Amino acid sequence: MRVTVFGIGYVGLVQAAVLAAVGHDVMCVDVDSAKVDGLKKGNIPIYEPGLTPLVQENYDAGRLRFTTDAAEGVQHGELQFIAVGTPPDEDGSADLKYVLAVAKTIATHMQSKKIVINKSTVPVGTADRVKAAIQGVLDERGIQFEFSVASNPEFLKEGAAVNDCMRPDRIVIGTDSDWVKEAMQELYAPFNRNHEKIIFMDIRSAELTKYAANCMLATKISFMNEMSNLAERLGADIEMVRKGIGSDARIGYHFIYPGCGYGGSCFPKDVQALIRTASTVEYPAELLQAVENVNERQKQKLFDFIHRHFAGDLAGKTIALWGLSFKPNTDDMRAASSRVLMEALWAAGARVHAYDPEAMQEAQRIYGLRDDLQLAGTREAVLKGADALVICTEWQQFKAPDWSVIKASLKQPVIFDGRNLFDPVRMKRDGFAYYAIGRGE
Ligand code: UGA
Repeated sequence: MRVTVFGIGYVGLVQAAVLAAVGHDVMCVDVDSAKVDGLKKGNIPIYEPGLTPLVQENYDAGRLRFTTDAAEGVQHGELQFIAVGTPPDEDGSADLKYVLAVAKTIATHMQSKKIVINKSTVPVGTADRVKAAIQGVLDERGIQFEFSVASNPEFLKEGAAVNDCMRPDRIVIGTDSDWVKEAMQELYAPFNRNHEKIIFMDIRSAELTKYAANCMLATKISFMNEMSNLAERLGADIEMVRKGIGSDARIGYHFIYPGCGYGGSCFPKDVQALIRTASTVEYPAELLQAVENVNERQKQKLFDFIHRHFAGDLAGKTIALWGLSFKPNTDDMRAASSRVLMEALWAAGARVHAYDPEAMQEAQRIYGLRDDLQLAGTREAVLKGADALVICTEWQQFKAPDWSVIKASLKQPVIFDGRNLFDPVRMKRDGFAYYAIGRGE
């Protein structure tokens, strides 16, 4: 099928590459000409395992094309995906200006029947607004074409995006027309072979499903973080509690890892956006507000430990930091706990020596050159002469470090672990002051 994807961001690029990989003819449109030119030369703007060869292969085969020419894009696809960003407004609600601009662009160039599909995470009711925007432009043009707007939210995870998209758990499609259903069945048939994964529903339910999924996952994490704070005060070990409750199939082991707070471009933004949406229908989303508050507090946790350990005297101290990205296998630092920590350390007069396998360029981009941030090329290099080590992200290469190097490099053997990577008993035995989440001290 001929498919056009507007917006070459995370969701758009992965979706486009995966659709091309199964044989569809995909054209990507973006207003950013540097990004489009880069992609034509094989420069993939994001780090995502498996994405570079997939894009390259399909680009070379001519099944995946990139353009800034919106008219060409609209011409190309019978299916028009909208996968542009929905950054939070000042009040936390999703800003729809890019989504609606694409809707108008599609209507401006439309010469035939189209299915317009929302992939971006958008508040309930957006499909109606997209439909109205398209209709408005067609009316202005004094011309009519048949079109339908559908919702097809994306559930991919950063760091596993290609795999999630290739092997989705479910494909949620909100539509009210049979011809759209048929087209979507055909589009997704290659991903739907072994068992039925497509769940058709009305458009508003599909839109809410996306938020409900992310908010449920964020709730699980904040719940565990709340339990970890209780465990700490009650002399229990949250890791034991985690295993104990995860074994109940109704609870499950996924997404119950306590830590230094959830980050990324989705959970914080989507929880806030749903709180805002709830307020528009005069519903006080108390649980979601608590999820958000617990997370904000949890992001302060490592700083609180450090502050307490050094009795508030952080001026002139050097803290070695492992892990800048909001989770492993990505260079994304949006809403990362590492940022809250670094900013608090700087405000207290401390210096940070940081290492991350992928996100150091991103840190440089965000913070520029500053005296109190030094980025080093290896995990060992940041340790030299530091007063303590703190771990914000559970990259694989942090899980079995050389303890003797750590001991020999740090001024004092102190570790603050925001991801519970090590056994506190062993750490104590080996002479470390070891702070973890919800595991006593
Ligand atoms: C999340 C969802 O998991 C995807 O299903 C969804 O499609 C995506 O948002 C989206 O809306 O686009 P992502 O933000 O890439 O994906 O990352 P996650 O793997 O969900 O991790 C989010 C944060 O939660 C990370 O900071 C991670 O460290 C934290 N986390 C996760 C925990 O603290 N504990 C856990 O048990 C799991």
